[in-house]
Amino acid sequence: MMPKNCWLIACQSSELKNKPLGVEILGKPIVIFRTRDEDKSITALEDRCPHRGVNLSQGRLIGNHIQCLYHGWQFGSDGECKKIPGRINSRGSDQSNPIKAKIYSYPVLEKDGFIWIGFNPKSDTPQPSLPHPISQKMDSFVWKTQAVGNLPNVLENFLDGFHTHYVHSGLVRSDTQRQRVIAEIFAQPDQVECKYRGETRQNGWISRLFEPSRQLTISRFLVPSTAQLDYIGKRGVNFRVTVFLTPVRPSLQMIHTRIETRKGILPNWLKCALLTPFLRKVTHQDLRILKLQNENNQRFGKEDFRSTELDIMRPYIVSLLEGKAPPPNRSINFMV
Ligand code: FES
Ligand SMILES: [Fe+2]
Repeated sequence: MMPKNCWLIACQSSELKNKPLGVEILGKPIVIFRTRDEDKSITALEDRCPHRGVNLSQGRLIGNHIQCLYHGWQFGSDGECKKIPGRINSRGSDQSNPIKAKIYSYPVLEKDGFIWIGFNPKSDTPQPSLPHPISQKMDSFVWKTQAVGNLPNVLENFLDGFHTHYVHSGLVRSDTQRQRVIAEIFAQPDQVECKYRGETRQNGWISRLFEPSRQLTISRFLVPSTAQLDYIGKRGVNFRVTVFLTPVRPSLQMIHTRIETRKGILPNWLKCALLTPFLRKVTHQDLRILKLQNENNQRFGKEDFRSTELDIMRPYIVSLLEGKAPPPNRSINFMV
């Protein structure tokens, strides 16, 4: 289940400096680079030299061209071959493109601190953007990792509360002090949102240390591959975590996690320094269980899952990923 006709994050803007960068998205090797002229515009090409197939991402930039490291062919932002060293024609120049070699060039955009690549975007495919504009009231930092697991399983892991008592015992929640919660789910053609009321605070350390009292939690899935959690108190959102998933291959997801905290007395760098050890631990625990899940299901050759009504988000995630109408809106009570 890999997304189609969409924009996906390739990297943060800050990662693309003056060298070519190789990424793999939806199973396709891609090289990204910035031109060296003033506008520093970005190009994304298939990462394969048409001469003998070497990765262009291993080459170097010459002006606004990328040069292959094997025989030095140069390519421009349009993917066309601009120079073949050693070749002369009747005018003594080597600037022509005799073999009409052209590399596939992807649509690319730089927006909101990320570089996005378009995969067959249609005229009605929305432009890439963050699910919420960057707010002046919030501090934020971004953090990058990779998860072994398919797209629905990784999205579900992030949005599901019922594994937290076990996988993150003590850090996020513990099994001993459950609270009664009501969840209301609203689905639209391109997103689903679940509002949880009744959990005044998570009983794990992260919430105790970093979160004033809570009134509402919202979890969201946004097509094609973004998931978000909002922790909302009296003054609005206190804490927001957004994960942007980029499928590298069917069972491997690149993840950019954007952590936002409400501006307060502590400077952003200090919040980042204080939160990072907790987040690192939680992420490590999730990556471990996701890898186990993936490897075990592969041993059986396919997934064969049984679900209950507590697997709240899964049916919505799956139908939206498949481009089908989501199940009806509903509300349920449970202990979390
Ligand atoms: S393989 Fe790239 S120039 Fe020959
Ligand atoms: Fe988790």
